[in-house]
Amino acid sequence: MQISRPAGERARYGRILGVGGYLPRRIVTNEEICRSLDSSDEWIRRRTGIRTRRFAEPDETTAMMAAAAAGKALAQAGLTPGDVDCLIAASMSHLYQAPPLACEITGLLGTTPAAAFDVSAACAGFCYGLAIANDLISAGSARHVLVIGSERMSDIIEPTDRSTAFIFGDGAGAAVVGRADQPGIGPVIWGSDPKGLHCIEQRTSWKDAGDTAGEAWPYLRMSGPEVYRWVVTTMPQVAQQALAAAGLEAADLAAFIPHQANLRISESLAKALDLPAHVQMARDIIEMGNTSAASIPLAMERMLTSGEIPSGAPALLIGFGSGLGYAAQIVTLP
Ligand SMILES: CC(C)(COP(=O)(O)OP(=O)(O)OC[C@H]1O[C@@H](n2cnc3c(N)ncnc32)[C@H](O)[C@@H]1OP(=O)(O)O)[C@@H](O)C(=O)NCCC(=O)NCCS
Repeated sequence: MQISRPAGERARYGRILGVGGYLPRRIVTNEEICRSLDSSDEWIRRRTGIRTRRFAEPDETTAMMAAAAAGKALAQAGLTPGDVDCLIAASMSHLYQAPPLACEITGLLGTTPAAAFDVSAACAGFCYGLAIANDLISAGSARHVLVIGSERMSDIIEPTDRSTAFIFGDGAGAAVVGRADQPGIGPVIWGSDPKGLHCIEQRTSWKDAGDTAGEAWPYLRMSGPEVYRWVVTTMPQVAQQALAAAGLEAADLAAFIPHQANLRISESLAKALDLPAHVQMARDIIEMGNTSAASIPLAMERMLTSGEIPSGAPALLIGFGSGLGYAAQIVTLP
């Protein structure tokens, strides 16, 4: 006995139909960061490429920013909130265990009663969500899936910490995934490496923070050089596998949109992949810093809006971060 598809339904593929972003209002310069951090504008630019980042104000919650980004993605796709039947939210800085961020977003956006759940995959969260969305569409479990990364990293970064304070920023990015006749999202290459659990971690648990009456806020702790080495030595192979799985070569790409962790990391990956000059690489980090799960859709939106990359062309996405988790896939740009 076989489970049958509804009459007339045939195998289908997923594709990104629209992308949108939300940039918090407040722009924070390196000079401002250095008012509380023992560092300099020159050092931060040279080591990371970062010149500014955005910090969210109190009303710019993870849910509010996510809903704004998702609304733009839906508008670009010519869809309304009522068309969405599943919403996946990725965030490492949403500070509530319950309700799920995704459920809060459905309320703001008006996508009720869409299925809604969160993925916890840190800076790789958007690529994980995209892979799940693609499989939901292909299996016929959903018609339109919103994948959203939304972060208030400024809430979990200690302003005096020399390993994190200058890197991270806030913002939200979203993509709406729907059906297509041709594959628009390639097979995901993903994994994790628990040997690096200590590389990017919350310093204390929520329980410890509660027990010490707010004195041990669980800020993020990072061993930057270890993360750097892991990314530049391991991710090129993951990216190559994503290209091979999609049946493409580096020269077929129009864009390379890696997680915006550090400009030097992106440049090192591009070099290792031997990307031809015509492949445009995302440089959103310069103005936005590292926005974790939001960085890839934010960069994609900026590159499409500026006309830097064409709609309909292939792009290589690769997310990596705490865990050490990673995911890479080729997508057709919306
Ligand atoms: C964090 C990062 C920028 C640090 O750069 P780095 O070149 O590895 O720097 P190091 O920690 O080796 O330190 C180099 C020097 O800068 C100094 N330094 C470290 N942090 C500093 C800061 N914030 N400001 C100024 N100087 C600093 C160190 O003391 C050291 O000085 P020394 O050479 O006199 O001993 C880099 O490791 C990085 O980007 N890692 C990846 C982080 C990342 O992307 N994380 C997110 C993944 S999702």
